Amino acid sequence: MTDNATMSIRQTEQFLHLYKPPAIDGNFKGKHIISVEQFHRQDLEALYAVSKTMRQRVMEHDRDLVRLCEGRLMASLFFEASTRTDMSFQAAMRRMGGSVVSASNGVQFSSVYKGENLADTVRAAGCYADIIVIRHPQIGSSYEAAYYLDRLNERITIPTAVISGGDGAGEHPTQALLDLFTIADLKNGPDNLTITLVGDLLYGRTVHSLVKLIGLWGAQNTTLCLVSPPSLRIPDTVLDFVQKHGITVHETTDLYEVLHQTDVIYWTRIQEERFARKADYEAISDNFIMTPAVLNQAKRDVILMHPLPRKHEMGTPHDHDILDQNPRSVYFQQMENGMFVRMALMAMVLGAV
Ligand code: ASP
Ligand code: CP
Repeated sequence: MTDNATMSIRQTEQFLHLYKPPAIDGNFKGKHIISVEQFHRQDLEALYAVSKTMRQRVMEHDRDLVRLCEGRLMASLFFEASTRTDMSFQAAMRRMGGSVVSASNGVQFSSVYKGENLADTVRAAGCYADIIVIRHPQIGSSYEAAYYLDRLNERITIPTAVISGGDGAGEHPTQALLDLFTIADLKNGPDNLTITLVGDLLYGRTVHSLVKLIGLWGAQNTTLCLVSPPSLRIPDTVLDFVQKHGITVHETTDLYEVLHQTDVIYWTRIQEERFARKADYEAISDNFIMTPAVLNQAKRDVILMHPLPRKHEMGTPHDHDILDQNPRSVYFQQMENGMFVRMALMAMVLGAV
C-alpha cells in the first residue's frame, strides 16, 4: 500500500470520531443513515410498518406509488462492487417514481480517476441529488460523506442526505434493517429466538450491524450464538455493545454445539477482499460450509439467511440448487425485502410518507 493510500485510510477513519450520526427519534426526514446506532425500537417499528405497505402496494401494482417520489433524485456512488444493494436502491427509487443518476461509466471513471477525493466527489453528487447512496471500502467513508454534506447543505438550494450502502468492514446498516425485517416477518422475532451467525464475524459488516440492531431492538429472551474461527471473532466493540443491551451471547468455534437449538441461521461469506494476506484467507476459507446435509441437522422450522453474494461457503452449485429448494432457505425473500425496506427508508428520509 502506498503512503498516500495509508494516509487516506487514516483520514477517513477519523470521521468516525469527528461525526456523530443523528438519532432518528421518530423523525427520518433529512437524516443521514450511516449507522444502526441511530435507531430505536419505535423507529424500526415505524420503518417496518411502511415497508409492509410498500410491499403491498408493489404487489397490487398501485399506480399512485410512482407519485411518491416523483421529481426526486438519487445518486448512486459505489466505490466497491455490489449487485443487490445498488440495484435494490435504484429499483426502490424508480418504483416510487424518482430517478437515479450515477457517473456514466461507474464512479471509478468519474473524476475519481483524475485523483479527486471522496469529499469533493460526494459534494458534487450532493449538488444534484436529494439522496446519495454510497458504498466505499474504507471504514468511516459514509461518516466523512455526512460531515461534508452537512456543511454543503448550508450553502446550496437542495439539501442532500447520504445513506450508507456499506462502510468498509464497519457497518452495512440498511442490510441489517432488511435482515431484521425478515426475521420479524418470518419468525415473529427477534424476541424469544436463538439466532446463530456463522462465518466471518470480524470483517462481515452485515453481522456487525445486525448484532447491534438486535441489541437496540431490546430483544427479550433471545440468545445470539456467534460461530467463527478464532481469527474471525466478532470485534470486541460490537460484542460489548450487544451485551450492554442485555442480550445473551454465546461464542463458539463449533457449529454443532448450537445448531440443534437455533431458530435463525445467518450464514456469511468469508470477506476475502478484506484480508491483507491471501494465505490467511486460504487458511480458514473452508472452515464453515453450509450444505443440505448440515441444514438437515437443524430444527424443522429454522430459517436460513445469507446476505449474499455466496461462494463456496454454501458448497457447490449443486448444493446451492438443493438448498434453494428447501423452504427453510429464505435468502431470496430476504433479498426482495431489501427493496421494500429501502423504499420505505428513502420515502421517510425524503418526507414523502
Ligand atoms: N454483500 C454484503 C456486503 O457487502 C455481504 C458480502 O459481501 O459478503 O457486506
Ligand atoms: N447483500 C449485499 O450487500 O449484496 P451486494 O454486495 O451484492 O450489494
